[in-house]
Amino acid sequence: MTYIPNSLEARDIASLVHMQTNLRRHQEEGPLVIARGQGCRIFDDSGRDYIEAVAGLWCASLGFASERLAAVAYQQMRKLGYYHLYRHRSNEPAIELAETLLAIAPVPMARVVFQCSGSEANDTAIKLAWYYWHALGQPQRTKIIARSMGYHGNTCAAVSLSGKPDMHCGFGLPFAPFKHTEFPHYYRRHEPGETEAQFSTRMAAALETLIETEGPDTIAAFFAEPVMGAGGAIVPPQTYFEKVQAVLRKYNILFVADEVICGFARTGEMWGSQTYEIRPDMVTSAKALSAAMQPISAVLINQRIHEAMLAQSDKYGNFAHGFTYAGHPVAAAVALEVQKIYAEIDIVARAKRLGPVLQAELGRLREHPIVGDVRGEGLILGMELMREGEKRIPFDSALNVGARMDAASKRHGLMLRVVGDRLVFAPPLVIEAEEIEEISERLERALDDVAQDLKREGALN
Ligand SMILES: Cc1ncc(COP(=O)(O)O)c(C=O)c1O
Repeated sequence: MTYIPNSLEARDIASLVHMQTNLRRHQEEGPLVIARGQGCRIFDDSGRDYIEAVAGLWCASLGFASERLAAVAYQQMRKLGYYHLYRHRSNEPAIELAETLLAIAPVPMARVVFQCSGSEANDTAIKLAWYYWHALGQPQRTKIIARSMGYHGNTCAAVSLSGKPDMHCGFGLPFAPFKHTEFPHYYRRHEPGETEAQFSTRMAAALETLIETEGPDTIAAFFAEPVMGAGGAIVPPQTYFEKVQAVLRKYNILFVADEVICGFARTGEMWGSQTYEIRPDMVTSAKALSAAMQPISAVLINQRIHEAMLAQSDKYGNFAHGFTYAGHPVAAAVALEVQKIYAEIDIVARAKRLGPVLQAELGRLREHPIVGDVRGEGLILGMELMREGEKRIPFDSALNVGARMDAASKRHGLMLRVVGDRLVFAPPLVIEAEEIEEISERLERALDDVAQDLKREGALN
């Protein structure tokens, strides 16, 4: 495609590197430039509107523009536009936000460590797990277990923790201490006749085998998202976390809940840990923490981690970790206002009311000829595209059915997330029932288009 010289598209191609994008293809196809947002909709630079069914990157929980949050950022910048938390310095928004998070934590937590992104939060939690075991005189506990297809970010450590081979290749990653156990994708991976509970027993046994093989006293921590987001919005099958936690307790392995997507009502409770009765030692959080209006993340740590950190100060002096912008007063002030909005609109009650609407509206498409399975929790949902859903026969990957759906959805004014042949939905938490219906209608038209093309090509009966 050739763009008008000096258009935004031409300037983009000549100047920017895009993440998670085929860079060669981008030179040909160029960008989709998003010009503005309003509520759950975004508008491109030609004025076309799209409903954002995945809240950007699962993060724009309050939609795409906000006078109220802009005013808070403006006032904070006028008062104190920057200060840091190094060497005993502090600022009021960071203090108040930490207190707010401790008050709503899914289990009793002792302190909050701020960073600027979900990746940094997980990186920090990895370091804290190592720091903890050093403090306890077990520095050989260096290995970290996460799940295949899990996603925890893209710094060197966070992407090593992630179980996505496409993000490892070409970089020489993952780093050696990171191990991956099976992921609980019940629909795709259960044996004929295997119940969810039996499948979960098998997943927990696989984890235990990995721990035994690696050596239990070499393992520092286990990381998991309550619902796997970038892996395809995969909800844990019945009894999964109960059984996994029993294994972790047996070997005294720390549990870090990555709540970067699930935190703040996504699953219908304030935290995914509450939905699935997870009792983590640390919680990592970002995205909806600030409704994505400012880059900020947090690690919540429990008493035993904090005690160990205090002991390390006795030994080494400073807690020698930190980021220039961690606890940034503007980001913290915006996040604090976001928390006030969540309380005012009762975000949990809202998610409890609208979650079932999303599940029912998209659930009705289970009958569509190219849909094999639909399942989710609260306001997150995954839809499996299958050639024969009943028999779980997938499409030939060369058909690129997921990518076709991405393109067709865009044509029908719908932004969703495609993971292989899975479609993922996590709309802004302020979505209304009528907008969910609109998502479902636009999606159905896109599914029809793709099914028709596949039939024409003889790839679908
Ligand atoms: C579960 C989870 N953890 C961590 C991250 C990384 O967050 P960030 O992109 O802010 O570094 C993501 C991003 O999508 C995520 O989904």
